[in-house]
Amino acid sequence: MDAPFLILTVLAATVINVAVLCSGGITSSFVRNVEKSEDMPLDSDVFKVPPGYNAPQQVHITQGDHVGKAVIVSWVTVDEPGSNNVLYWDEKTNHKKHAKGTVTKYKFYNYTSGFIHHCTIKKLKYDTKYYYEVGIGQTARKFWFITPPEVGPDVPYTFGLIGDLGQTYDSNRTLTHYEWNPIKGQTVLFVGDLSYADNYPNHDNVRWDTWGRFVERSVAYQPWIWTTGNHELDFAPEIGETKPFKPFTHRYRTPYKASHSTAPFWYSIKRASAYIIVLSSYSAYGKYTPQYQWLEEELPKVNRSETPWLIVLLHSPWYNSYNYHYMEGESMRVMYEPWFVKHKVDIVFSGHVHAYERSERVSNIAYNIVNGKCSPVNDQSAPVYITIGDGGNIEGLANSMTEPQPKYSAYREASFGHATLEIKNRTHAYYSWHRNQDGYAVQADSMWFFNRFWHQIDDSTTSARS
Ligand SMILES: [Fe+2]
Repeated sequence: MDAPFLILTVLAATVINVAVLCSGGITSSFVRNVEKSEDMPLDSDVFKVPPGYNAPQQVHITQGDHVGKAVIVSWVTVDEPGSNNVLYWDEKTNHKKHAKGTVTKYKFYNYTSGFIHHCTIKKLKYDTKYYYEVGIGQTARKFWFITPPEVGPDVPYTFGLIGDLGQTYDSNRTLTHYEWNPIKGQTVLFVGDLSYADNYPNHDNVRWDTWGRFVERSVAYQPWIWTTGNHELDFAPEIGETKPFKPFTHRYRTPYKASHSTAPFWYSIKRASAYIIVLSSYSAYGKYTPQYQWLEEELPKVNRSETPWLIVLLHSPWYNSYNYHYMEGESMRVMYEPWFVKHKVDIVFSGHVHAYERSERVSNIAYNIVNGKCSPVNDQSAPVYITIGDGGNIEGLANSMTEPQPKYSAYREASFGHATLEIKNRTHAYYSWHRNQDGYAVQADSMWFFNRFWHQIDDSTTSARS
């Protein structure tokens, strides 16, 4: 090979972020290392146990009611149960109050958990910074959170999107990029697959503890809204563990009763100008099932004059053009997609596939077995589907795609990252995806969303990518 040709070849091979057109959609030509991500070792600084006897660890918060005036605080103590109380106070008044919680623990094969505390703080003021303290005496630990503004149609609010995080070096990069992103996310919408502890022999639940300590630096200060993924199932009959979601349900709480759900895996919340519906890809969703019945009754309740932005979170994507988990979300799509179109859902976020993909506004609901109408078509009442399962877990990236790129796929790239959704008012929201290999402020893919209820104008041309 002569020298100029070699240089050209090397240049061509190292050009990154050049997009290539394919069947209307765009497949990024960025190619990352193919090595699998490695979990951070147990003695990593991000897993450090806080000092002091019985010090609370794995502190995390989530929304505690339907409207954002309550917060569930959870934490673990290991030496003894300690106090279930949370001490909290409004930054401005400094008037200290107590909320009383509960404690639980569980066994999983040969693992016994620490003392897991959950405490719901209620009747908080909107848009207020609160400090809170867990633990007692020498080992009390102090954190803070900011409650959302009162629910209303033009209230700006910024969500972060993270999925399939795990606890590798790449996971740590994703979380760091989210924290340092100048677009400051106020709440994380987490689309499932948290710790990946089930990849260890006997689902070593120690890795649930390390994950709790790893993400504390974010989730102790802003709520993460939990969606369950397949890695939360922890169904292991070979070792006698037959109750699905056992570690998850003991460790993580959701405010499901506030939306009249009967299980913690599907529920809804209002937050600022958004109505968030969380669904469970791994709970029954067929006709007559509790989840089906709940969703059927839930969707008509959404008042777009109060919460214009209707967002759905679920784990297994319905539109996915990677050769991983291909069509796993198909049966749920068949069940629920007509409802999403009827009720003009704005965006569906999912995870599961360890890559990034954004769809056009499409639906595929005309098929009736005999009419042959089984291709997705452009539909301005349909949501945009975004797969954001690129948190960086141990299983590595999904980098094999179906070819040619289907027309429904607007943009896809096999990189790790996170996204942000900045709701501006009832008509506009700015969305951007951020890759781990870029600087904190770089937006690799972005789009102005026009609200489907208030401003149902084709927004497909508003996207841009670097
Ligand atoms: Fe998954």
